[in-house]
Amino acid sequence: MNIYYPPQFWKKKKLLFGITGGISAFKVVGFVSHLVQAGSDIQVIMTKAAQQFIGENTFNALTRKPVYSDLFESGEKILHIHLMREYENLVVAPATANIIGKMAGGIGDDLLSSCFFVDPKKVIFVPAMNVDMWHNPIVQENLKKLVAIGTRVMVPSSGNLACGERGEGRLPEQEVFLETLYYLLCSPQSLQGKKVLITAGPTREYIDPIRYLTNSSSGLMGCSLAAAARARGADVTLIGGPMSVRIPSGIRYIPIVSSQDLKTATLEHYDKTDVCIMSAAVADYRPSNPSAVKIKKQGKTELILNLIQNPDILSELGRRKVSQILVGFCAEDGDLLVEAPRKLQQKNCDVMVANRILPGESGFEVDKNKAWFLNKNGEMIDIPLMDKMELAETIIDHLVAFYFS
Ligand SMILES: Cc1cc2nc3c(=O)[nH]c(=O)nc-3n(C[C@H](O)[C@H](O)[C@H](O)COP(=O)(O)O)c2cc1C
Repeated sequence: MNIYYPPQFWKKKKLLFGITGGISAFKVVGFVSHLVQAGSDIQVIMTKAAQQFIGENTFNALTRKPVYSDLFESGEKILHIHLMREYENLVVAPATANIIGKMAGGIGDDLLSSCFFVDPKKVIFVPAMNVDMWHNPIVQENLKKLVAIGTRVMVPSSGNLACGERGEGRLPEQEVFLETLYYLLCSPQSLQGKKVLITAGPTREYIDPIRYLTNSSSGLMGCSLAAAARARGADVTLIGGPMSVRIPSGIRYIPIVSSQDLKTATLEHYDKTDVCIMSAAVADYRPSNPSAVKIKKQGKTELILNLIQNPDILSELGRRKVSQILVGFCAEDGDLLVEAPRKLQQKNCDVMVANRILPGESGFEVDKNKAWFLNKNGEMIDIPLMDKMELAETIIDHLVAFYFS
């Protein structure tokens, strides 16, 4: 299961986790365990009601630290002030309707609510409750008040709820939780207000209704770019062929199948886009005359396919470019550093990311990639072989440095 954040993001992060009395408190055990293993320093605070749902000892064992719940815990320091100064953020998960109401109403009658008043901008609420509780206007009004003073809120998922009902109010699954937390904590939000269009994955060019020509692109690079752009505050649209990886959360996803679908969808969104990153592995050719019925092998010892060239979408985008930053991807096993600058110029791109295809090491169907970042001013940055999510962040940061700072 792919989760889109760079592996080193959680190393040495100092996070307070405030657990309140919701039925989904048990799920937070998994979140805390994952973050501790990823290298974060997690300190847990529990409300009295939370202890009805999960024991302190579980978090104590996972974090190898005492769990705090008493506001009047005696010690050298005033606990709620000390914790909020010492830790980078306070994640309240699950956040009950009650704690949201207390904090919005200015009540600090226990350790967790008192922490909130020390620095509300550091607080991230992860509400989880029954669908009707979630849609209760008082809860929504309280959240608006909290957002207005700089507190961040992770919108709950929709689905089966512990109470047996269905709807919004569900605590997000672990991969969505971790990814969204990465988006919320990522700083600076250097692409805030920008629209980023990304294409990813392979295309399928049908020979008959069930057979097709394709390639081994998994879509991991494009999905990682989508998450990295989203984490920097961009409004991201991902157009993707049939991919073998999970689609990142928090973005708009448009599934397509063939290169012609990809062209139609890309052109539809291109005019409203600030940055367009074409990382899909688009087929160069398609069968000129696909069969409407399954091709039978009876009586045939040979099958000759006639292929015609697909439209060059990147060149078309280059021709239509007005103010968009157009980023092409080229993957080569041969003369990469001759091909990449040629394509950059010929297709009127602003940037070309050149990928080295080394089977099993870099490029298709592996988690790592070796790339060069070339821009139209002739500058070239040699990026070492790295994890695709790390590479995605590096590419987005170079784009920001060249075009948005
Ligand atoms: C079985 C059970 C499950 C509950 N689940 C939730 C929940 O998921 N979300 C919520 O907002 N409140 C839930 N509540 C209500 C809270 O436990 C109650 O409001 C409590 O006062 C919250 O205290 P706290 O916010 O200090 O932790 C539940 C109560 C019970 C008895």
